[in-house]
Amino acid sequence: MPFLSMRADARPAGTATGAGAGAGAGAGDARPSPDAGLSFHGDSELADGLVDMAVNVRQGTPPAWLADRIQAAVGGIGAYPDPRAATEAVAGRHARPPAEVLVTAGAAEAFTLVARAFRPRRAVMVHPQFTEPEAALRAAGHQVERVTLGGEFRLDPAVVPHDADLVVIGNPTNPTSVLHPARVITALARPGRLLVVDEAFADCVPGEPESLAAARGVPGLIVVRSLTKTWGLAGLRAGYLLAGPEHVAAMARVRPPWAVSSPALAAVAACCGPRARQEAAAWADQLSAERDRLARSLNGIPGVVVTPRAQASFLLLNVAAGRGVRERLRGAGFAVRRGDTFPGLGADWLRVAVRDRPTNDRFAAALGQIMAPA
Ligand SMILES: Cc1ncc(COP(=O)(O)O)c(C=O)c1O
Repeated sequence: MPFLSMRADARPAGTATGAGAGAGAGAGDARPSPDAGLSFHGDSELADGLVDMAVNVRQGTPPAWLADRIQAAVGGIGAYPDPRAATEAVAGRHARPPAEVLVTAGAAEAFTLVARAFRPRRAVMVHPQFTEPEAALRAAGHQVERVTLGGEFRLDPAVVPHDADLVVIGNPTNPTSVLHPARVITALARPGRLLVVDEAFADCVPGEPESLAAARGVPGLIVVRSLTKTWGLAGLRAGYLLAGPEHVAAMARVRPPWAVSSPALAAVAACCGPRARQEAAAWADQLSAERDRLARSLNGIPGVVVTPRAQASFLLLNVAAGRGVRERLRGAGFAVRRGDTFPGLGADWLRVAVRDRPTNDRFAAALGQIMAPA
């Protein structure tokens, strides 16, 4: 039976298929074990004086109104946190009953809860994607298989083994920025299978047309959302998941009590409100225009190919001699995210956050100069 609570007979971690991630744990090029790449994140690329094109958090966040709400909640930290208001706010935002919502300490906690609450026999990661879901599964003792998308990273549901009982995919995907159609993702759903969709970047997409957050009745669907990116709250740890009530209950059972602090709950409630939604929607529109402009400009540089149909707040570039280019970009004052810690990518892949227009233009000029024939 799938979906049993694990622990009693946890199995050793390992990769059944697919290449190792293969890159180091620092901004340098040391190459320890493949699994070390799973815990590499864009903030490791940062250093004093470098322009941050590596971390995909909206600039200028958190906004003052949100910081005020969080600050006000600090006044109440003498009491244990009560998640009901935040849970209801999320439920209202996605038109679901509160029993289908679990507010979490960031999307990362949701991945850990999936790994703890269920015991998949065949867990499959659709790569390249954010690595923490795989890391959480391995840390809980599960075997993990990888399938790697080729051909501009479009999802073909046929690449997922038919007997996989846990499938994890990002939408839009970090690091490719590709947005899969909701109907293609739901084609992966079936009774007896958990389908985890990481929508940490869903609110980058105007109108969120391919989001499954409000999709009820899709068997085994668990949608994971984050407040980190759009609201600049990485240090607060705030996010949530949406799933069928029995799966929500299974995950709630395996978590420590009071896992989400009162300030984080206040932030979740605030970010579901009309003001936040309006602000996020306006940002998504601006972001789309600026991202498409940056993509056109980078695509014009010889030796640089931007992964097409980007929909998130970053672009994935294929760059001839990418490792050297990344180092030269650092020399020119720009930190970009190495691609080779993502399973399925190599050193010629670089991820670049979309910034404000002047910063993007300076970055494109610097990359153009580096790529120009000597
Ligand atoms: C695709 C994706 N999902 C989830 C997360 C983690 O989000 P959180 O900070 O909410 O744990 C990240 C962070 O980089 C991410 O890129």
